[in-house]
Amino acid sequence: MSEHISLQQVTLRFAALTVLQEIDLSLEKGEFVVLLGPSGCGKSTILNLLAGFTQPQQGRVLCGGEPVRRPHPSRGMIFQQPNLFPWLSVLENVTFGPRLRKHNRAEVESRAREWLKRVGLAGFENHAPWQLSGGMKQRVALARAWLPGPEVLLLDEPFGALDAQTRMMMQELLREAWLATETTLLFVTHDVEEALFLADRILVMSARPGRIVDEIRLPFGRQRNIETLASEPHYSDIKRHVLQRVRHEAKRHLTPFTEEE
Ligand SMILES: Nc1ncnc2c1ncn2[C@@H]1O[C@H](COP(=O)(O)OP(=O)(O)O)[C@@H](O)[C@H]1O
Ligand SMILES: [Mg+2]
Repeated sequence: MSEHISLQQVTLRFAALTVLQEIDLSLEKGEFVVLLGPSGCGKSTILNLLAGFTQPQQGRVLCGGEPVRRPHPSRGMIFQQPNLFPWLSVLENVTFGPRLRKHNRAEVESRAREWLKRVGLAGFENHAPWQLSGGMKQRVALARAWLPGPEVLLLDEPFGALDAQTRMMMQELLREAWLATETTLLFVTHDVEEALFLADRILVMSARPGRIVDEIRLPFGRQRNIETLASEPHYSDIKRHVLQRVRHEAKRHLTPFTEEE
């Protein structure tokens, strides 16, 4: 395996606020990494840097060894809100980007139908977004992000607004799509159980200025069952460790005037 995307000694400030300080992070090709950390520590900022929406003041942002300077369809992003165009159908939403870039319409549509089938939306191609539930809209967003065949997908709490049942289904869907495509995934969440089901590796961030303070490589293998995962040896120990780490950082964040360095 080889390094696919990385931040090297990245410092990013918004005016006087240092959000990230000399942060290092790197993902292997095809790896599924979950980023956990207190609110405001810079998780979305990291995704924005890797997507090419933002530039750092110091350090390097690399994808495939090349500096990331601007957004590109090879690096997709999925947000908590599905952000569908309300006046376009499901199929038109999914094919919007590739159609703008003048890709062959028939071919794009046939691939879009395949992705819609994969995410369980066969038969909904001509529905309007307002006819769909929240989970279904997020499935459209998944199909849309995957259609151009991205090398990297950046996911910013994508299932945070969904109910527990729907979230589990989406987690399974995401893992299946990842295993089928071997895309490199960086996934942000607040939910420790979600992280334990999804990740090859979990990174825990400190309160601002954000740094990576812990790394946990999960020993559960790539084929996982959401129903039996909790009975795997080490699951409870790892869960306790990760929860403690995350809570410790969240508390530090709440008491900024008493923390010692
Ligand atoms: N465009 C911006 N201008 C000024 N401050 C920003 C901007 N974007 C984010 N911030 C600040 O940077 C910090 C990190 O934000 P963010 O990366 O969104 O955190 P997280 O996703 O971990 O909750 C927060 O304090 C936030 O208020
Ligand atoms: Mg965020």
